[in-house]
Amino acid sequence: MPLVLRALDLRKVYVTPSGMVEAVVDVSHAFTPGSVTAVVGPSGSGKSTLLNLLAGFDTPTAGEVWLDGDAVHTLSERERSSLRLRRFGFVFQSFNLVAVLTAEQNVALPMGLAGVPTTLRRRRVAHLLARFGLERRGDHLPHRLSGGERQRVALARALANDPDVVFADEPTGALDTTTGALVMDALADVAADGRTVILVTHDRTLAERADERLTLRDGRVVAARSQHVADFALETDS
Ligand SMILES: Nc1ncnc2c1ncn2[C@@H]1O[C@H](COP(=O)(O)OP(=O)(O)OP(=O)(O)O)[C@@H](O)[C@H]1O
Ligand SMILES: [Mg+2]
Repeated sequence: MPLVLRALDLRKVYVTPSGMVEAVVDVSHAFTPGSVTAVVGPSGSGKSTLLNLLAGFDTPTAGEVWLDGDAVHTLSERERSSLRLRRFGFVFQSFNLVAVLTAEQNVALPMGLAGVPTTLRRRRVAHLLARFGLERRGDHLPHRLSGGERQRVALARALANDPDVVFADEPTGALDTTTGALVMDALADVAADGRTVILVTHDRTLAERADERLTLRDGRVVAARSQHVADFALETDS
């Protein structure tokens, strides 16, 4: 059974020399395993901050993050890194891959950190690269891959330790529309495994293809809707 990620009254306030910034305000949401949830909203609305809180990169000012029975917000930094390594996968807009490592070595990296034995690691790397059509790109360094291929290697690496949740912050931000759509196909495929995929995107077309959509404005959720089950729609936005 996939684990369910939940945010409860989540709040993040940054104190800066020019005053307080309420980056995330009272966000409560349960993310559905087996679906892609698009987190959308204007620049500065708190999307990345929310992702960082959910993933345990950052600690909330108030509120809670639960991965099933694990209270992520109460874990130490060390416990959170261990949780991330085992349960979470990440894809970012750019600088995803280690430039001096080949595609294969990049995908193997999290498994090495988790102590996966070499034979198993090799088998899984081959399987993951093949899954994303990259079986002939294993020995390429990132600069010898196209943008879309790089993001697919990043996605293969995100799946290395069989995570429950995959976080993607603008994974198609540096790609053209067609290539971006392919990366979205791959994310949808990853959700079909039963995993939770949380996708931050500015791309309206991609957001419309997600199963659920969470809209933020000034750190608050202004709309949360399931796009495929009309009865679930909870639009509070006009
Ligand atoms: N480390 C920080 N210190 C102070 N303020 C911050 C910090 N990180 C983010 N903020 C502020 O918090 C708010 C939310 O930022 P966040 O990066 O979450 O927005 P976003 O929705 O991801 O924007 P974008 O679409 O541009 O990536 C912004 O006003 C931002 O300036
Ligand atoms: Mg952002």
